[in-house]
Amino acid sequence: MNSLENFKIRTLRREDLDAIVRIDEKVLGENRKDYWKKKLELMNDRSSQISLVVEVEGSVVGFILGDVSGWEFGVPETIGWIDTIGVDPVYQKRGLARALAHELIKNLKALGVKTIYTLVSWNDWDLLQFFHAMGFTRGDMINLELKI
Ligand SMILES: CC(C)(COP(=O)(O)OP(=O)(O)OC[C@H]1O[C@@H](n2cnc3c(N)ncnc32)[C@H](O)[C@@H]1OP(=O)(O)O)[C@@H](O)C(=O)NCCC(=O)NCCS
Repeated sequence: MNSLENFKIRTLRREDLDAIVRIDEKVLGENRKDYWKKKLELMNDRSSQISLVVEVEGSVVGFILGDVSGWEFGVPETIGWIDTIGVDPVYQKRGLARALAHELIKNLKALGVKTIYTLVSWNDWDLLQFFHAMGFTRGDMINLELKI
């Protein structure tokens, strides 16, 4: 499909909650309004300054949540995080996630970030292929988990 050219990327606002819930529901088939409400409420200042949405014809059709931090997990530099990215299935494969990621990466770079981390489920091929296309590779850290 052709890339979309008429889109606008802007900083995420709390009023974008309903649009994000709608996109998330279309992607995952589940309404998680409470989860998203809490997540946006708990976002720290840095994260809300760098997280982005993309609008097409005035409607939010995609988003990327990022954060920036330093000295976590013994990593001695300012590091960036991509928490979640989602694009409305109707608008997927048209370059919007690429545009969102490029803008976030540009903003993180301007803040002095040298490395960006993200966590993706091993079974999530769409996301894995997307991050691969963005130049992400497997990092040195492994995630550990304990079911309790
Ligand atoms: C992964 C995702 C963000 C990609 O969004 P998108 O707007 O379709 O991605 P783009 O069109 O910008 O693709 C950029 C590149 O990523 C790769 N890519 C993206 N989706 C892909 C897929 N499904 N399969 C293979 N490669 C893919 C391609 O290399 C593509 O470049 P190309 O079109 O030049 O080949 C989107 O599929 C999505 O939202 N998936 C659900 C993610 C999720 O579960 N989020 C949490 C809940 S909202």
